[in-house]
Amino acid sequence: MTDVPPEILHRLTVHRQDHVLGGWDNLSPAGRAGLVEQLAGIDFAVLETLYGRRNEPHSVLPPRDRVAPIPVDPPAAPPAAVAIGERALRRGEVAALVVAGGQGSRLGFDKPKGMFPIGPVSGASLFQIHAEKVLALSRRYGNPVPFLVMTSPATHTDTERYFGENRFFGLAPSDVYFFQQGTMPALDLATGRLLLEAPGKLFQSPNGHGGTLTALAETGLLADLKARGVGHVFYFQVDNPLVKVCDPGFVGRHVAAGSEVSSKVVFKEQPGEKVGVLAATDGKCGIIEYSDLPVEWAAERDAAGELVFRAGNPAIHIFALDFLDRVTGRDDVLRYHVARKAVPYFDPATGQPVTPPAENALKFERFIFDALPAAERWLAVETKRDEEFAPLKNATKTDTPEDVKRAITRLHAGWLERAGVHVPREGSGEPSHPVEVSPLFALDADDLAAKIPPGFAVSGPTRLGPGEGPRVPTSG
Ligand code: UD1
Repeated sequence: MTDVPPEILHRLTVHRQDHVLGGWDNLSPAGRAGLVEQLAGIDFAVLETLYGRRNEPHSVLPPRDRVAPIPVDPPAAPPAAVAIGERALRRGEVAALVVAGGQGSRLGFDKPKGMFPIGPVSGASLFQIHAEKVLALSRRYGNPVPFLVMTSPATHTDTERYFGENRFFGLAPSDVYFFQQGTMPALDLATGRLLLEAPGKLFQSPNGHGGTLTALAETGLLADLKARGVGHVFYFQVDNPLVKVCDPGFVGRHVAAGSEVSSKVVFKEQPGEKVGVLAATDGKCGIIEYSDLPVEWAAERDAAGELVFRAGNPAIHIFALDFLDRVTGRDDVLRYHVARKAVPYFDPATGQPVTPPAENALKFERFIFDALPAAERWLAVETKRDEEFAPLKNATKTDTPEDVKRAITRLHAGWLERAGVHVPREGSGEPSHPVEVSPLFALDADDLAAKIPPGFAVSGPTRLGPGEGPRVPTSG
């Protein structure tokens, strides 16, 4: 171990983390250099503080009397707001940002979640659907919408390769920005020591979507966006194929209100739904994560019988670029949330891998929505679940691939019916066949109604779009 850099050795000793050097002598020169590089990036003092707080409640909730439901604007945007949003898009002032760093472990899919095939007829992936929306918007408003894709070390290479193999789904590569979020090491629950994944390799995981903020600043992307004239960033999660990317009415309301952060809201139907809720604490808007919302608060009802905290979070926001600039410079805005997990690891003392029978590790994540209370001016706008929110989360039970495909079919079948097309339905009311409209064919119901050829009918699985698909209408 004579070649361990003295500074690293000193820090490991002071912080009682020198066990990670256990297999040092057996590592190749490249392996040693890799371990040194990982260790150099770690702030041991922060880890010690976080470990010291491991038994504190997940979030420090303010007393109930300081927390109030928030005012929520109705779904339909006034025409003047739509016009403002469209002008911002024509001027190239809006960028789209998708967070795609999560590993999709609940889905049992070993590639980035964005690659999951979800188009009910085409099998188009989440990434394809999002990218085609961005392309369709760019074409509609005659100015490219910059598309930012946040990945993590777990998803970065596959994601970049996937976009490359698919020629960026028609987008100009110079309008697509991949950037990686950071990682946080996992700690052993019993001792606070770093865990190794393999000899010479620390166990690290993505640092939560709050990592977006630091990553945007550190990669210089915020400055690039500013130089391009972007003033607003439309933020969404890769798991929701229904999201109305850069919805002009939403953009317009955000701009007109001079809002620093605007959020869409989907009203909760059940107290136990796994969505965060927007609520105001001392007049500042914030999100209480579902795992932190006390069951009594979740069940509270108002005089009309509605849930008091019903403003569910579909994770669709617009951030003013100036706001992002302001909060990325401050380290105190986003705290770490702690999760207890069962993490298989490599024990350097025995040289053996260990599969723990129970939770053995602490993982740390930052949430982007913890930045909301830093906004001086904010806005919440209702959106309808069946129009904009069908997240893909689990392999079975809820929010499954089948649920999401059905939601796409229902929405697009409804668009066809509004355009006067007959869609056969089962006794249950569900469309009899899967239906899918490519964003490159139409972005919304009005768009579709303007393009659907006369006499068009649904009599089997139906996809409207350029390229492949069993039914592509031709003119006339
Ligand atoms: C999340 C929200 C919840 C919201 C719900 C809506 C959090 C903590 N909670 O819950 O309030 O109501 O979505 O669907 O986000 N991601 C990264 N990097 C990470 C971690 C996550 O990019 O380090 C991305 C994932 O790729 C995904 C998104 O963030 O797109 C959400 O992560 P997920 O674990 O699915 O969050 P939920 O617990 O479902």
